[in-house]
Amino acid sequence: MPLIQIKNLTHFFGGLRAVHDFNTEINQGDLKGLIGPNGAGKTTIFNLVTGVYKPTEGEVIFDGTNIVGKRPNIISSMGIARTFQNLRLWTHLSVLENVKMAAYSRIRYGLVGAFLNTRARIHEEQLLDEKAYELLRLLEIEQYADFRPSNLPYGIQRRVEIARALMIEPKLLLLDEPTAGMSPAEMEDVMDVIRKVRHELGLTIWLIEHRMKLVMSLCETIQVLDFGEVIAEGTPDEIKNNPRVIKAYLGTVVT
Ligand SMILES: Nc1ncnc2c1ncn2[C@@H]1O[C@H](COP(=O)(O)OP(=O)(O)OP(=O)(O)O)[C@@H](O)[C@H]1O
Ligand SMILES: [Mg+2]
Repeated sequence: MPLIQIKNLTHFFGGLRAVHDFNTEINQGDLKGLIGPNGAGKTTIFNLVTGVYKPTEGEVIFDGTNIVGKRPNIISSMGIARTFQNLRLWTHLSVLENVKMAAYSRIRYGLVGAFLNTRARIHEEQLLDEKAYELLRLLEIEQYADFRPSNLPYGIQRRVEIARALMIEPKLLLLDEPTAGMSPAEMEDVMDVIRKVRHELGLTIWLIEHRMKLVMSLCETIQVLDFGEVIAEGTPDEIKNNPRVIKAYLGTVVT
């Protein structure tokens, strides 16, 4: 059974059909790419899957359960984590605190414990610290643990966001343009980090990306979206040579 299976997903914003009859399957351990021109509907699909919007039609079966209509925090607790196209880090918190924040909805000491320095609370905090440091090490940014994210280069901030997403121990990680706004050198680093995270955690990843080079070198299969519809699906080589894809990207068919 695929880890996630999406059937006939359609979404309208008023009269605008942003996603039309979208279908996909991602198996455990796969890294699947979703590409397409600006406004194609890629981020909307992630927003539909994570419960930000409720689809007009369709099913999202995650780990055997239809999650359509569930709230974002429930979907996150079921094991879907994401990063955002535009960074969403808390600027007044340190890198370590940003990463730890993701786990606070899950910890067990409750409201009373939060105000009392109970042993359970101290123990939970220590565990969270250890887990957050472990992720910062995995992403090779532990030296920035006490920095404010806004003082750090963009590429590092992106990695903080990935670490935060991993804090909930997701089964599926959605990355929405993780290299947006980066220099080529930063981009190479983030690609390496994605590979490493995937390998070490055995994670299933769904990646939205504009940069062809990155998608082609990371993903086994790719879907191409244009005006809310899938116009091509296949291996990087199949996609690269598909005339509909070339047309969508360049506006002309290259023969
Ligand atoms: N909240 C919203 N309300 C109304 N229209 C929206 C909303 N969010 C997205 N849209 C529209 O839906 C379409 C798909 O947008 P979406 O952000 O999903 O595209 P995208 O493929 O992620 O594009 P990009 O590559 O620029 O990030 C666009 O026409 C966009 O203007
Ligand atoms: Mg987008």
